[in-house]
Amino acid sequence: MDYFNYQDDGRLYGEACDLNRLAEQHGTPLYVYSRATLERHWKAFDEAAGDVNHLICYAVKANSNLAVLNVLARLGSGFDIVSKGELCRVLAAGGDPGKVVFSGVGKRVDEIRFALEQNIFCFNVESVAELARINQIAGEMGRKAPISIRVNPDIDAGTHPYISTGLKENKFGIPIEQAQNIYRQAANMEHLDIHGVDCHIGSQLTELSPFLEAVDKLLALIDALAEDGIQIRHLDVGGGLGVRYDQETPPEPSSYAEQLKARLQDRNLTLVFEPGRAIAANAGVLLTRVEHLKPGEAKNFAIVDAAMNDLIRPALYSAWQAIIPLDKTLERQTAVYDVVGPVCETGDFIGKDRELAITEGDLLAVRSAGAYGFVMASNYNSRPRAAEVMVDGDQALVVREREQLADLWRGESLLPES
Ligand code: LLP
Repeated sequence: MDYFNYQDDGRLYGEACDLNRLAEQHGTPLYVYSRATLERHWKAFDEAAGDVNHLICYAVKANSNLAVLNVLARLGSGFDIVSKGELCRVLAAGGDPGKVVFSGVGKRVDEIRFALEQNIFCFNVESVAELARINQIAGEMGRKAPISIRVNPDIDAGTHPYISTGLKENKFGIPIEQAQNIYRQAANMEHLDIHGVDCHIGSQLTELSPFLEAVDKLLALIDALAEDGIQIRHLDVGGGLGVRYDQETPPEPSSYAEQLKARLQDRNLTLVFEPGRAIAANAGVLLTRVEHLKPGEAKNFAIVDAAMNDLIRPALYSAWQAIIPLDKTLERQTAVYDVVGPVCETGDFIGKDRELAITEGDLLAVRSAGAYGFVMASNYNSRPRAAEVMVDGDQALVVREREQLADLWRGESLLPES
């Protein structure tokens, strides 16, 4: 559930803010996030986990705007990061580094050192080479590094191939058959402190069964490790819970947690979650204005001022996101359009075959754009990135200014005159 709804005047609101007014005031394309929605989604995980020891580490990559991170930090959230940049964002937003897990296959030496200096909660380690690197750096610093090994359980999450991560052929994690052996090696590394086991099998999962299959494999591993005298203290189940973009009916965090708790029983394990999309996707919309209508024999095009550089999910994954008018009382002729941006690529579309009642100048909202939206934006075609606004009741705050043209070539230089 989110707080982007039509009110009695037929206009779309974000909480108590009229999105038409925000678009007029701040221009388009414009990302708008809802604080109440972010909070509601985070609390759904927190309440679902209930009295089991748990840590919710919001996956920063989904939406790393400082205001978004700050809203979650104030609730006591932890964070899942994949770079020094993300860790610095968490710190700048008032997040607690002691609740940070550091994921990713390619952690650099300086990133590991910085994370150790900040006393993060745990490194989610993805290879033997990385274990050795962390051990060495921790040794140089006279420290013990908290680690968990990301296990690849070889499970088909049934999602788009680009966002499926738990299969043997994916680059992520350590194959489950090798995990016990590699934990034994880690136990012999002097500067490592084994904390947990983690996995992340994919994103936008709409069924529980792949998650549960993975957890069963991980619990069996944890038991085997206990026999080796290696005590695992936390189980990190990763992110991946899907959201509703169209007709999907993803499981609620409550039923997910219920099933997990039934499996944990009296084991003394802290549960770690790394949700990104489930918290942020439906907490954001992208507002855009119709520039031109271009009727054609084969297709009608609605050319809007948001493009693949603003929201790449449709172009990259053929993702479907709802496109709706900001004012549904306007009387317009209905037609079926491909909604496309101004970028010079055939793949630049926001939605295909959409029935819309629109004319030039009308405002539209692309729903479910709060996760993997702005964070994946680029400056392709020298287009400044959109502004971001957070609504909170009847207040709306610009939380990132629109980029200016001069920002596009900041740091570039001409050759010296010869
Ligand atoms: N933990 C790890 C280790 C991850 O790699 C990811 C996402 C998450 C947590 C959060 O997953 P979520 O709860 O958001 O599904 N750009 C793609 C999604 C890429 C996800 C990458 N990893 C998209 O727009 O669909």
